[in-house]
Amino acid sequence: MPRTPDQTALRAQFPALHQGRAYLDNAAGGLLPQRTIDAVTAHLTRYGATNASAVHAPGRMLADLRRQAREATAVFLNADPQDVALASSATTLAFRLSAAFARLWGPGDEVIVSGLEHEANASPWRELERVGVKVHVWHARQPDMRLHPDDLAALLSARTRLVAVTAASNVLGVAPDLPAITAQVRAAGAWTVVDAVHAAPHTLPDVQAWGADFVTFSPYKVFGPHLGSLWVRGDLRGHLPWPKLSFFDPADIASIEHGTPSFELLAGWLGTLDYLRELGGADTLTREALVGAYGHIHTLETPVADALLNGLLALPDVTVYGPQDAQGRVGTVAFRVNGQTPTQTGLHLSDQGVDVSSGHFYAVQPLTDLNLYPEGVVRASIAHYTTEEDIARLLDALR
Ligand SMILES: Cc1ncc(COP(=O)(O)O)c(C=O)c1O
Repeated sequence: MPRTPDQTALRAQFPALHQGRAYLDNAAGGLLPQRTIDAVTAHLTRYGATNASAVHAPGRMLADLRRQAREATAVFLNADPQDVALASSATTLAFRLSAAFARLWGPGDEVIVSGLEHEANASPWRELERVGVKVHVWHARQPDMRLHPDDLAALLSARTRLVAVTAASNVLGVAPDLPAITAQVRAAGAWTVVDAVHAAPHTLPDVQAWGADFVTFSPYKVFGPHLGSLWVRGDLRGHLPWPKLSFFDPADIASIEHGTPSFELLAGWLGTLDYLRELGGADTLTREALVGAYGHIHTLETPVADALLNGLLALPDVTVYGPQDAQGRVGTVAFRVNGQTPTQTGLHLSDQGVDVSSGHFYAVQPLTDLNLYPEGVVRASIAHYTTEEDIARLLDALR
């Protein structure tokens, strides 16, 4: 693989990093490269809120933009563009998918939700209880909060229709072994819905390698604007009766997108994918380019994630939750400081120029299992532009 680009040059592309603060809340939302911001501004300047049209020239450009955004997102997911929806959020799309399941399933059907989930990959499936579906929780094992296949095997049965699992926990950083899980679920005759929202800035999604049936992710966690995305396995699309406008073909993935797209945000997301293309050292946006970009992201993140985890573990007044080693996790660490509420710690750190966040982060089940709900934890989360100096500032402010 070519040499990893200079991190200082990469950081120069992110205007929000020029403020001199250590931004460690990447799990909540990423920062945007200049070209993303420029693409949104250029779009609004050129088109305002013009809509797509089959007739007038700007409207045809917008229809083309929508197609391009879908195609580029498909490259990002290693998917077929026909199977990729883009809408306002991953949560919205999950609830629409759940509405389809509510029309397919009822008493006698079962769903399993992992104990690591953000509520966006739990509440939509809990809604199915209203139509008589039984929901089981596949709890993570304490204290390291990893999921074990034996515990899933004990819950799977001929009644299981769906298993919901995250590609990485947005509060504990744990990254389950997706191909193993989807194989186990498939062997039981059920579908898997994977929440890749937290994993996607660190691990390039690959719907084919993962073997899932449904995958969500959110561009705004991947240095793009506020959008959410859902991938649906191609042979299932068209057989899922989600609520839709009457004239749409149910097999048209646009039928789950509901309403007029945020064209300016689609333009911005294409700007972000262009940033990733360049990071991957390619002239065009290809899967290889993105694989290359994520190779560099991995190289940049690894020492920083290690410094974060090991640094927090070494502080005597700090308790780290979840896995205590770097194996099978991303650079997101949950902790508390003895004698302080998470909010007190977060405010103190922000006063020192270090922006982490505190609370439960909608990760209700994992934090309930750890007896940390609802106050939650302090969460520090890195991205590829985070430096070891950022981590040193965090650790110094905690000493
Ligand atoms: C793991 C995870 N899943 C889902 C979501 C929800 O994503 P969205 O805001 O696009 O609905 C989040 C947002 O924080 C998340 O961290």
